Amino acid sequence: MEVTRYWKVDSSITPDHPSIQEASQLIQTGEIVAFPTETVYGLGADARNEDAVRAIFKAKGRPSDNPLIVHIASLQQLNQLVQPLPEVAVTLIEHFWPGPLTIVLPMLEGAVPSVVSAGLSTLAVRMPAHPAALSLIEASDAPIAAPSANLSGRPSPTKASHVMEDLQGKISGIIDGGEANLGLESTVIMVQGNSVEILRPGGVTLEQLVEVLPTNVQLLYEQKHVTKEQSPRSPGMKYTHYAPKGDLVIVEGNDLSKVQSWIQKQLIQGHKQEIKTGVLTFQSQTCCYEQADHVIDLGNDLRYAAARLYDALREFDALNIDFIYAETCQEKGIGYAVMNRLRKASGYCTVQL
Ligand code: TXA
Ligand code: MG
Repeated sequence: MEVTRYWKVDSSITPDHPSIQEASQLIQTGEIVAFPTETVYGLGADARNEDAVRAIFKAKGRPSDNPLIVHIASLQQLNQLVQPLPEVAVTLIEHFWPGPLTIVLPMLEGAVPSVVSAGLSTLAVRMPAHPAALSLIEASDAPIAAPSANLSGRPSPTKASHVMEDLQGKISGIIDGGEANLGLESTVIMVQGNSVEILRPGGVTLEQLVEVLPTNVQLLYEQKHVTKEQSPRSPGMKYTHYAPKGDLVIVEGNDLSKVQSWIQKQLIQGHKQEIKTGVLTFQSQTCCYEQADHVIDLGNDLRYAAARLYDALREFDALNIDFIYAETCQEKGIGYAVMNRLRKASGYCTVQL
């Protein structure tokens, strides 16, 4: 058990702030530190330090074949990591960096130890849009390799308290920047020639990408109903990122009243059998599911739903809910990523009405 340092920072944070100075000294001496980003909290190490990167995998219990994203604060750092940029990548960087877009590019040989990219010849890179993250990278004078700062198999952390729940005593420090703005991870894309493939939907939406991509560029992405059997391109997508303690079932249908009455029936059954039930709603009011032990309303504002989703899933776990029934939200904008995470958390268990 090691002592985990804790620093509270606000949005006016700069690289010369004493907290950032202390945290960056830890990074420079090969320690691992959690920090806020606009998506979720990351667990960072100097990407060039093999032992430090290995410590990340160990603290999280992360499989070693799942590569990490390298976080940078300048384009100069990018040039030291990857081969000359394809034109499409330049366009996307201009529009979306700093921000929740991770770009997978051919790596400059030997730029970082192979443990970072899990032996792949490509490297995932992103420039986060959070002053604490950018300050930490700058003060450390290092590219920072960082996965989400949760134990593998738990929801990504959107608050410093989530990081503490999972990793206190296992990491050297936590920079607390308050609640993550977006609440879902970055969009991961692979750029190859004239095609852009979405490997993981996230903070930058499909619609935003379409808007800025030249018409001769093909945008490839998984259609809505992905099944477990299809093998995803991003190594991380093959793992069930998070499975709640209870069984999560997605209840889908065009007729909301049918969805509601189906869920209500399950709640009554559950109550009789003394099973603890929970409901995650998007479209209904909380009072619609009075028979449930716990109801969380994610509302119909998709940005709010994205920001609250992981916290909600942790809440059901904390209450030891046996069965969670989830309504669906619109699969447009950030809603596409919300449903992607929810479907994965359910193990692709859907009731279609
Ligand atoms: O928003 C985010 O992206 C957060 C914050 C901390 O930046 N990070 C994050 O990292 O979500 P992580 O490790 O939880 O997810 C990284 C994803 C995984 O699905 C991984 O497989 C994929 O990126 N990835 C990393 N390197 C890759 C590569 N070279 N090729 C394909 N996929 C890659
Ligand atoms: Mg993760």
